[in-house]
Amino acid sequence: MTKKLFIKTYGCQMNVYDSTRMTDVMKGEGYQVTDTVDDADMVILNTCHIREKAAEKVYSEIGRLKQVKEKKAANGDEMYIAISGCVAQAEGKEMMRRAPAVDMVFGPQTYHRLPEMIKDAKTMRADTQKSSARVLDTEFPAEAKFDHLPEELNDNSPAAFLTVQEGCDKFCTFCVVPYTRGAEFSRPVKDIIGEAKRLISNGAMELTLLGQNVNAYHGEDTSGGDADLATLIRRLAELDGLERIRYTTSHPRDMNDELIKAHGDVPQLMPYLHLPIQSGSDRILEVMNRKHKAEIYFPIIDKLRAARPDIALSSDFIVGFPGETDEDFEATLDLVKRVQYATAYSFKYSPRPGTPASVMEDQVPEDVKTARLAVLQDEITSSSVAFNTATIGRTLPILLERTGKFENQMIGRSPYLQSTYVDLSDNALDVGTAKPYTDLMGKLVEVEILEGGPNSVKGRVVA
Ligand code: 5AD
Ligand code: SF4
Repeated sequence: MTKKLFIKTYGCQMNVYDSTRMTDVMKGEGYQVTDTVDDADMVILNTCHIREKAAEKVYSEIGRLKQVKEKKAANGDEMYIAISGCVAQAEGKEMMRRAPAVDMVFGPQTYHRLPEMIKDAKTMRADTQKSSARVLDTEFPAEAKFDHLPEELNDNSPAAFLTVQEGCDKFCTFCVVPYTRGAEFSRPVKDIIGEAKRLISNGAMELTLLGQNVNAYHGEDTSGGDADLATLIRRLAELDGLERIRYTTSHPRDMNDELIKAHGDVPQLMPYLHLPIQSGSDRILEVMNRKHKAEIYFPIIDKLRAARPDIALSSDFIVGFPGETDEDFEATLDLVKRVQYATAYSFKYSPRPGTPASVMEDQVPEDVKTARLAVLQDEITSSSVAFNTATIGRTLPILLERTGKFENQMIGRSPYLQSTYVDLSDNALDVGTAKPYTDLMGKLVEVEILEGGPNSVKGRVVA
């Protein structure tokens, strides 16, 4: 009988990628994915450690899973609970102590070893002498997981993720990533092309190349030597069937001219760039160890807009970083006004254990962080509304990726990554008779944009 795997993903897109790769590994072990915890023989929580709130959610979820596990055990059914991802990496040992219901803990770089871990966990459970022993596999391995993952991919989404670079050597003082994902590493071009082809034959029309520092990509090229991200993008653009290419997340310091040029002349490269600056204050950028001043950002944006005038820009911001004054915060607001983002993400600074900023003096009081966040988010919202309403009346190619909550509703992305809602009951195509709307799933359709809000736009299919 096939066994069932329930997997829940927290955090970033790289975790989404890792979760699909875990399902690939688990398929080889006879596990099929279920979306019901009660049916599961194995539950994996793929966790995020980026901010305190994200990490805390994991412990409350483990509490709920423990009850399911106990209920199943009472009926003679087995269930294993596994915690993976960045909380597992950062707090693995503590988690073993704090959550005895957990059977396996492993990090983002060791999940290719799941088959052995499962075997070990089963042996341990069967051995009554050792029945409290559990599996912990969070040492960074010498081998790259990518060389040990199955070739066969279960991901058949129209817009798929592909990790090309992982880890970080930059050590921003607020960030856990260098500790949870390890040192910077780029996959060879050949491997990426191979995986891209498999995703395309599974139905992907769009690929988002992922990396914590994706524009620092420097993988081995097919001809020997190193390829930068621009070169990788140009190689991928040659693949038949690949209509759209995106990449995230980039660092301003690694935004080279070749990559900017690619935005001007690679038609598949979408006009959207997530380029986090975190703060508009040079003083704060310095304490954050970003190793650049706010001023380097503007020439990059100007060059990008010269290469691709309609490019949509996005960023991350942290408010209330230790020592942030009203004046520093004003500098962030000024930057947001100046850049005119299509969208942006902003967070209250969250002290992360083991990072330099968590022990800095001058931590900003919570109420000040909350107030600054509200002001910044207002500014970002008006910028997003302006961007989205400016697309009203335009007809944009939308890749339809999923059905919405309402009948006949489908949701896709515009070239600018806008979430685009289409109601197929009031569109110009006769979808009711000639084309059941589910036929449009995974297709690029032309959509006239009718409305724009802070987080999405609405439109109707015209072709
Ligand atoms: N506190 C708040 N936000 C953080 N981020 C990273 N670390 C922290 C932290 N300790 C934000 C940054 C980053 C995004 C992924 O999360 O803005 O770009
Ligand atoms: Fe969260 Fe960062 Fe880990 Fe992604 S890499 S899961 S954002 S801690």
